[in-house]
Amino acid sequence: MSGARIEIRSLSKSFDHGESRLDVLRDIALDVAAGEMVAVVGSSGAGKSTLLHLLGTLDRPSSGQVLYDGVDTARLPASELARFRNHTIGFVFQFHHLLPEFTAEENCAMPALIAGVARTQAITRARALLERVGLGHRLTHRPGELSGGEQQRVALGRALIMEPRALLADEPTGNLDTRTSEDIHALIVELNRERQMTMIVVTHNADFAARLPRRVRMVDGTVVEADA
Ligand SMILES: Nc1ncnc2c1ncn2[C@@H]1O[C@H](COP(=O)(O)OP(=O)(O)O)[C@@H](O)[C@H]1O
Ligand SMILES: [Mg+2]
Repeated sequence: MSGARIEIRSLSKSFDHGESRLDVLRDIALDVAAGEMVAVVGSSGAGKSTLLHLLGTLDRPSSGQVLYDGVDTARLPASELARFRNHTIGFVFQFHHLLPEFTAEENCAMPALIAGVARTQAITRARALLERVGLGHRLTHRPGELSGGEQQRVALGRALIMEPRALLADEPTGNLDTRTSEDIHALIVELNRERQMTMIVVTHNADFAARLPRRVRMVDGTVVEADA
């Protein structure tokens, strides 16, 4: 497995708001190399989550393109888009969105089950991943029986179960205490080194951003290289 090369070309997103129009992303251009790790920083409302949604093909741009390995995601028919997303992109959000009635291993296995992987195989994969993220002793706990950090580890496992070529994370530790956040940050960096998937991580954590090889800053719907 190798990471996806992601190219963002003249990307804009506007929302109609009654009479007025809100330009949330303005003509963004950004190239992310295969396997690269990029921190996205910027103040609240700058457009970070909107950008990640477009990168994740969860929403469509008003204009411009998002290309994965040269393929324009907007040209994929709806039927292929879901499959593309399921196989190519892993998501981690600030709130884990685990399903409360399922166990850790079932939650972790969910994208594989949805993709049609046989249950025993999906659960076997999920167990191995949960071992990897340090949760081998919590396989059959439900989310309500896990700490915030443990829940986010399950979410990380779930994001990786399909061996995505890109991982998109939106403030993955925004809801965790400092110590737990540091553990998760270290884990994310290790996973990138092991698996070489391309990673784009929105974070408010300056220490974490500083550890990543590249940072971009969003300012009012535009992207500037933070290190430039
Ligand atoms: N679906 C939407 N409809 C209208 N406005 C939106 C929508 N989603 C986001 N916005 C607006 O876009 C701006 C950027 O939001 P967001 O991308 O969530 O910023 P960030 O993640 O950087 O805090 C905000 O002003 C927000 O209110
Ligand atoms: Mg946001």
